Amino acid sequence: MTESGYQDREQSELKHYAIKLYLEAAARILGSAWDLKYVDCCAGPWNSTKSDYSDTSFGIAFEVLRTTREELSGRNRAPRVACLFIEKEKIPFSELDTFAKTKNSSDVRVHARNWDFAERINDIVRYCSSPRTFPFILIDPWGWKLAGISQISPLLKLKPGEVVINLMSSFITRFVNDSATDLSDLLGEDFPELRSLTGTELEFAVVRKYCDLIKREGDFAYVCALPVMKPDSDAFNFYLIYATRHAKGVEVFKSVEKRTEERTHVVRADVQKRQRQERGGSLDLFEPTVLYRERKYQQLATDNCERAKRRVLDLLQTTGEIPFDDCWAEALQYSAVYQTDLRSWIDAWEKDGTVLVKGRKFPAELLKRGCGHVLAYQGQVASS
Ligand SMILES: C[S@@+](CC[C@H](N)C(=O)[O-])C[C@H]1O[C@@H](n2cnc3c(N)ncnc32)[C@H](O)[C@@H]1O
Repeated sequence: MTESGYQDREQSELKHYAIKLYLEAAARILGSAWDLKYVDCCAGPWNSTKSDYSDTSFGIAFEVLRTTREELSGRNRAPRVACLFIEKEKIPFSELDTFAKTKNSSDVRVHARNWDFAERINDIVRYCSSPRTFPFILIDPWGWKLAGISQISPLLKLKPGEVVINLMSSFITRFVNDSATDLSDLLGEDFPELRSLTGTELEFAVVRKYCDLIKREGDFAYVCALPVMKPDSDAFNFYLIYATRHAKGVEVFKSVEKRTEERTHVVRADVQKRQRQERGGSLDLFEPTVLYRERKYQQLATDNCERAKRRVLDLLQTTGEIPFDDCWAEALQYSAVYQTDLRSWIDAWEKDGTVLVKGRKFPAELLKRGCGHVLAYQGQVASS
């Protein structure tokens, strides 16, 4: 077993890395104004190897919330913080319950419930609905059935609130062509249309469709999808779907996505090194990251940059003039697309005369959200 305790489940390591980064930033920002509640709907523990549960989603969330509260109270703003950890199975629940009882204190209230979360949605909504409280919801089931929109709808509608859902894209794409499987609650009534697609196009469409439905159901302004790769093959395992009503949330989550991408390559490079050694290879002369091989992430980044660029250009052509903030929101909701990509397209469009940028306070001012920059399309505007 590796020191991290994640050997052969490195995808969980990446998931936990992303959840930790997100929650650290979100709790710090939102905890200055709100009391915080955190609900892990499928808490486990599952395959944990650490006695302090530092390799589980609930152990990580508890620790982040506890330290954030401590930091905030040092600045005279101590929010009330509470966690609800839900687990359906008896054996993991008894471990979870012991953890909750040990950690429960007046600083951070911790409760565990032996529930099937899908049958207790009203209880969860009631738990989250205290005044001046911002709830974070994590839905991380096995498979994909519990991620169905109608099942989780009341959780999506919590206002204020943010939701992170594990979408098992690798399973779902396999079931799209199975006529016995009804994916309408996950991908909409028209999901059979996806059957004409294959490979990366199908995967992109599945994730996009789910994000659109989450956005509509929860009246979210933004939904992002953070891809998590399989540790030992060049493929994505699942996406962490993040729904928010605030642009600042997108900024935070995109930075989490970038750092998780970087971490992905380090973690997978180590897995590849281990595999070389297990196959009887001699010790590597180079660092694992030098010998690391990966195509899938690069392809996603290239494809999504192309898709997002086309989408922003479409918006420009149909509107004629559009705030930079709207282009930013549109582009950054594509996985593996970042502000630097958007700026580089606009830069090229400015140079070739496709676009005129208005609202810069000085000529070299970088385009930035919230600064009043506007893009004016200089070509033929499409008639709507
Ligand atoms: C993928 S594991 C969760 C791992 C955990 N979130 C983590 O990252 O450390 C899924 C867990 O959800 C539990 N589970 C599955 N269906 C559930 C349901 N309907 N309600 C509550 N828990 C459920 C399973 O027993 C299992 O422990």
